[in-house]
Amino acid sequence: MRAVLMGPPGAGKGTQAQVLAQGAGVPQIATGDILRRAREEGTPLGRTAQSYMDKGELVPDEVMVGIIEERLRQDDARQGFLLDGFPRTVPQAEALDRLLGTLGMPLDAVLLLEVPEEAIVRRLSGRRTCPNCGRSYHVENDPPPAEDRCGTCGAELVTRTDDKPDTVLSRLEVYRRSTAPLKTYYEQHGLLRQVAGVGPVEEVTARLRAALRA
Ligand code: AP5
Repeated sequence: MRAVLMGPPGAGKGTQAQVLAQGAGVPQIATGDILRRAREEGTPLGRTAQSYMDKGELVPDEVMVGIIEERLRQDDARQGFLLDGFPRTVPQAEALDRLLGTLGMPLDAVLLLEVPEEAIVRRLSGRRTCPNCGRSYHVENDPPPAEDRCGTCGAELVTRTDDKPDTVLSRLEVYRRSTAPLKTYYEQHGLLRQVAGVGPVEEVTARLRAALRA
């Protein structure tokens, strides 16, 4: 599998990408997780990314393309990959096409998770995230087995700084302006598969798997 999972903030990309990638035996490459890790480690990349992420804006394309190029050149990506959160702009998608062309590993599919904005705001206001393994929970829809502890790795769960209501609205606006045009881009390339992202997590997973097989 060489695929992209895209969708608005809070659509369930991280939740689904973890399950799909594990099931297919390929790495989940989540640019948001890479940036948050760099921020926690205080690296130059993390410091650059922080100001953009805190405002809900996109990190510049040239920075993101560099990150993804380095990651896709690693050995484990030769077996396939699931990109989660990249590309997010048309220039990023064009750069990805060029890179995958050079590496001889073109995309099989682009899955677009569709969720109405009212549901997104509810999801993000109740999200708790594991800073260690990246697993997301929701206080009502998908609570952790032990309060405030990750069921996968036991780390203490946190609320992401960009899940504040004002920042969520900025992220949605950025999605509409910069990322939604990718739908047309991938439609024109014959790769787009639209999947309803509402309903129980397992049902959404089943729909995504069916879309990948189609
Ligand atoms: P990133 O971390 O990628 O954030 P995002 O795209 O806004 O997506 P989220 O992680 O918020 O949501 P998700 O779709 O993964 O949903 P989740 O599964 O957690 O990026 C963060 C920032 O980094 C960006 O704003 C930008 O600044 C920067 N960045 C990253 N990539 C970049 C790029 N390529 N270019 C430039 N900048 C970049 O689920 C959300 C909640 O819903 C959870 O609580 C979950 O439990 C719940 N949930 C999931 N599924 C369901 C369901 N079916 N029903 C009910 N609840 C559900």
